[in-house]
Order: sequence, then structure tokens, then C-alpha cells
Amino acid sequence: MRQETAGNAAYGIVELGELGIVDGKIVHLAPLSQGQPIHAKRTIDVGKKWLTPALIDCHTHLIFAGNRGNEFERRLSGDSYEQIALSGGGIRATVSATRSADADSLLAGAMSRLTALLQEGVATVEIKSGYGLDHETEIRMLSVARELHRQCLPEIVNTYLGVHAIPAEFHGKVDDYIDLVVEEILPDAHEKGLVDAVDAYCESIAFDSNQISRVFDRSRELGLPVKLHADQLSDGGGAELAANFSALSADHLEYTSAAGVRALAQAGCVAVMLPGAYLTLSETQKPPIEAFRDHGVPLAIATDCNPGTSPLSSLRIAMALAARIFAITPLECLTGVTRNAAKALGLENDRGTLEVGKRADVAIWDIDHPRDLSYWMGGNEIVDLLIAGEYAVANGTVSCRPA
Ligand code: NIG
Ligand code: FE
Repeated sequence: MRQETAGNAAYGIVELGELGIVDGKIVHLAPLSQGQPIHAKRTIDVGKKWLTPALIDCHTHLIFAGNRGNEFERRLSGDSYEQIALSGGGIRATVSATRSADADSLLAGAMSRLTALLQEGVATVEIKSGYGLDHETEIRMLSVARELHRQCLPEIVNTYLGVHAIPAEFHGKVDDYIDLVVEEILPDAHEKGLVDAVDAYCESIAFDSNQISRVFDRSRELGLPVKLHADQLSDGGGAELAANFSALSADHLEYTSAAGVRALAQAGCVAVMLPGAYLTLSETQKPPIEAFRDHGVPLAIATDCNPGTSPLSSLRIAMALAARIFAITPLECLTGVTRNAAKALGLENDRGTLEVGKRADVAIWDIDHPRDLSYWMGGNEIVDLLIAGEYAVANGTVSCRPA
């Protein structure tokens, strides 16, 4: 009993609370009948249900064409992700399929994955490009991401991930590809209003620190925040690189060193944990969770939804996996898909907690305690989801924008 009380305090639970919303913002939050009474036009009694901030998936690649189930089978028979990538599969396989796909088919595929996230209480989704790599297809992917938001209620954060894999046509000419990214594709995508952040893949099978630094320098000139796929398969100094550029987040981090953890802490960088990729790649090296805790590095959790390493379109499953595989507590899991996920997107002043002044992104659950959101797997306890005060899920049913 004592432990439960302490736990409730740590969760910041307001029992028998009331929440007021005006013009899409939270204007009032207090125990019932305390604080300033507000004159409400409409009152909803949710009974014994629980309110949390709406969930945020801060790392996805959910726009793509094709299917890499064949690679999944190859890995289960012993081939590694690196071997498959070096033999022309991996990201490059999805690049070929995505280059051949038109915007409508990309939109349709992405919409089903986005709707799955929305259905379970996710109000903000980050989506990366990086399966086009050429100018035209990268712009198409980023435009599809904007269109997804026009057609469906979740807010989409567009991340340009041009530096994801070396395109086949630039084999042996990586610096020429970086020239194309910094001189042509990134500035054009930015000018078209399609980029909110820039990401890169720092790995021996992808790009090194010098190449990524050129892209991040250009991002800085354009006023764009950066983030990094870091230390996923080996310690390539990714965490330090992310910290040097004051990245919003460094993601994966299985092989991050003690020095890397300290650098992230000093830079105030969020560490994004992606248990779906860890599990799918049969990885055995876990990210240094205890060291992140000791140094006060904020932890976020995301799906990494993509056709190669993490065919996962459930943030609730990502929470459940993070708890079981990485021993991240249910409270840390919840913080990791709300407050810290908002910080990983630079949106912490606008959403991620239930606080007066923040956007009214609120999930309403039929659960006994918020820990249940990591405890249960595969069910969906969402009742309603409000995005900026508007019903995006009502009584378990998704509503999309009127056409
Ligand atoms: O987050 N690591 C690089 N990028 C993705 C994988 C993309 C893919 O394999 O298609 C990731 O794991
Ligand atoms: Fe990723």
C-alpha cells in the first residue's frame, strides 16, 4: 500500500480531477471543485477512466513501399543486417521500391500505419524520409507526410533523413552525395516548407562523423534542429557527435560508451530507445539504461516503424517491450512516450504533459492504473483521444478529417 502511494505521487496522479479546455488548450486542471471554477459550455463525466497526455511516437519511418519479409526470414536463418545491406538489400531494397511508387500508393500504405497509431492514442508522429535518397523521391516522401496530416488528425513532424544509406548510383562517391544533399536537396526541401528536423545514420555501413557533420552544419545554417541514428550496431562515437551538435535526440544507442552517455547528459539530449529494432535484429547488447538514469539523460521510447528493422506500428507494444527487455519502468515508459518524446521533437513547451497552457492532447483510458499501459500487450484500452481539444478517437472509433 505504501509503495502504491509513493508510485502514485511519482506519476503525478490527480485523483478525482477536472480538466478544462478552451480553444484547443488546457486552461484548468485541478482536483474536483478546487481551483478557480470555470464556466464550461459542455461538461463530460468520464467516470472512473484515466486521463494521460496523448502519446507521441518520436521516431518512425512509416512512409515506404515494398516489403522486406524475405530479409526477416534470411536473418532468422543466420544472415546479419549488415550482410544483407552489403549485398544490396536492406535500406536500398526499400529505396528501389519507394522510388518506383507514386504518391498515392505511398500515402495509402502510410495511412494504414498512421491510423493504427492514432487508434491507440498517438496524437503526434515523427516521420522520416530517407527511402528516396534522390531529390525527387525525398520531396515526394516529405510531401506525402504533409498530406497525411491534411487528411488525418495526428500532427506529423517531418524529418529529412537524406543521409540514411549511400545510394547505389553514388557507390564510391560518398562525398559527391553529401554535396548533393547540402547544396541541393536539403535547401530545396527546406524552402518548400517540408522539413522540421534533420536526421542521419552514423554507422560503418552508412555515414561517418565527417560526412554527417557537413549535413548538420548546413542544417544549423538553415535553422533546423538535428537528431541522429547513433551507435546502433557498433560504437561509432554517435552519441558524442549528436551531443556536439546539441541534437534534440540520439536514437538506438545500444553500443554507446560511458563517454557517450556523459556527452548526451551534458548536451541535454534525449536518448530514444527502440526496442522493436533491438528485438527484430536479435541484438543482445542492450543500451546503457542504468548509466542514462545515473546521468539524468531523459529516456524516450518509439516504434521506429520501418520495413526492415522494426515492422511495428504499435507504440503500446514498444512500451511493453521496453519494460520487459530493457527493464525500463512503466512510469519511465509513459514519460518516454509523452514528456520526453515531446522533448525529442523540440515540442516540450507545447505538449507531452497535462498542464495549463499546453495543447489539449489528451488520451482517456479504461484502465486501473497508468502502469497498465506497459503491462498489457496487444489490447487497446483507449476510449477517447483528443487532439488540440478535438475528438480524434471517440468511444474507440477513429475519426478522420472530413474530405
Ligand atoms: O532505425 N538504422 C537505420 N535506419 C532504420 C532501419 C531502416 C531500414 O532497415 O529500412 C532503423 O533501424
Ligand atoms: Fe530509425
